[in-house]
Formats: sequence, structure tokens, C-alpha cells
Amino acid sequence: MPKILLLFAHPRYEQSRTNHALLRGVGELAEVTFHDLYEAYPEFDIDVAYEKKLLLEHDVIVWHHPFYWYSCPPLLKQWIDVVLEFNWAYGPKGNALADKTCLQVITTGGGSEVYCSAGRNNYSINTFLRPFEQTARLCGMRYLPPYAVTGTHKLTDEELRQHADEYHRILISLRENASVADLKDCEFQDDIPPQLTIS
Ligand SMILES: Cc1cc2nc3c(=O)[nH]c(=O)nc-3n(C[C@H](O)[C@H](O)[C@H](O)COP(=O)(O)O)c2cc1C
Repeated sequence: MPKILLLFAHPRYEQSRTNHALLRGVGELAEVTFHDLYEAYPEFDIDVAYEKKLLLEHDVIVWHHPFYWYSCPPLLKQWIDVVLEFNWAYGPKGNALADKTCLQVITTGGGSEVYCSAGRNNYSINTFLRPFEQTARLCGMRYLPPYAVTGTHKLTDEELRQHADEYHRILISLRENASVADLKDCEFQDDIPPQLTIS
């Protein structure tokens, strides 16, 4: 059964509403390792050897974070910079992550309607996430369509609960080696080409 490493990066988790709701109970899911980067490394002193060991022990890598200035909070960027080393994660001898699966999960204050050419943010969420997609691909990972919970400030408690249920369903499906086609009812962001089975 594939093992899932959920790398979570939120600099103000104690003030979070959306991500608290999404993550409630996730730690109890079998085969899911929840790793809160800001809790582990408040001074940004990332233990690279430990992070590499964790990566090797898992099959699905989740980058989960609130969307900050069209990107990730700085500790996740730092994690990418220092952990995904040349000739380990990429480069002529770098194949440690080959054939793993990468899922990015984000929460955005902006509603889905502002993430398009006619909207205030001009570009789709997938377009903003291209550097992450390409990072995963350079490391030989399959980058799944991202899962985004948008318009967080306006979500009702019931809507939040539905998103949390959907997120947990995605994690369970990935753990059970589902293909993305099996997850077609989930609201993935959808402008990524469909070469995405993980089995
Ligand atoms: C520093 C900062 C930058 C943000 N940048 C964006 C952004 O670029 N796009 C967006 O839609 N929301 C942005 N937001 C809103 C957050 O994404 C939103 O508040 C968060 O996802 C809600 O989740 P939470 O309740 O778990 O904190 C930003 C918020 C902060 C504090």
C-alpha cells in the first residue's frame, strides 16, 4: 500500500480556520505521515538528512499550504531549496524521487472566479503553480492536478466540512493506489494534461 507523506507549511496555523478543518483527523489515517514543517523548523534549520529519509520512506508526497502571494510560504520554498539536492533529487545521478507521486494542496483567499484571464488575478491557479509542477517533474515525480480550496473567507462551516471530507477521500484513494480517473468526482484544478495514473 503506498505511503503518503503530508508536508504541511503554514506560518500561522494557530490562527488558521480552513487548514485546521482540512487537517482534522488526517494524522489518524493509516499510512499517512503528517509532518508540520513550521512546527519542526521554526528557525528554518531544516534537517536535510531526516527529510530525505522521510521522502525515501514514502510513495506519495503532498505539499499542503495556504497560497501566499501566488506561491507557498517561505519555509516550504526553503525545504525545496535545501532538500531536493542536485544528484539526489535531480541531475545525472539524482533519481531518489523517481516515480513517486506529488500532490499539491492549497487554500486560497481568492475565489475561483478571480483565477482566470477575465478575473482579478489574470491567470489560473495551475498557471501560478507551474514552478511546483516543473520541480516535481524535474525530480521524476508525477505531478497530479492540484487540489485547491478557494474563497476560504466565505466558506460556511458546512462547505468546509465537505472540502475536508473530499480531501480525506483523495488521501485514502491515493493510499489505495487509485488512478486520478477514479477521483473524477473530486474538484481538482483541471488544466493539467491527463497523463496522470499513479498505479
Ligand atoms: C501573506 C499572505 C499572502 C496571501 N496571498 C494570497 C494570494 O496570493 N492569493 C490568495 O488567493 N490568497 C492569499 N492569501 C489568503 C490565504 O491564502 C488564506 O487566508 C488562507 O489560505 C486561508 O487558510 P487558513 O484559514 O488556514 O489560514 C494570503 C494571505 C496571507 C496572510
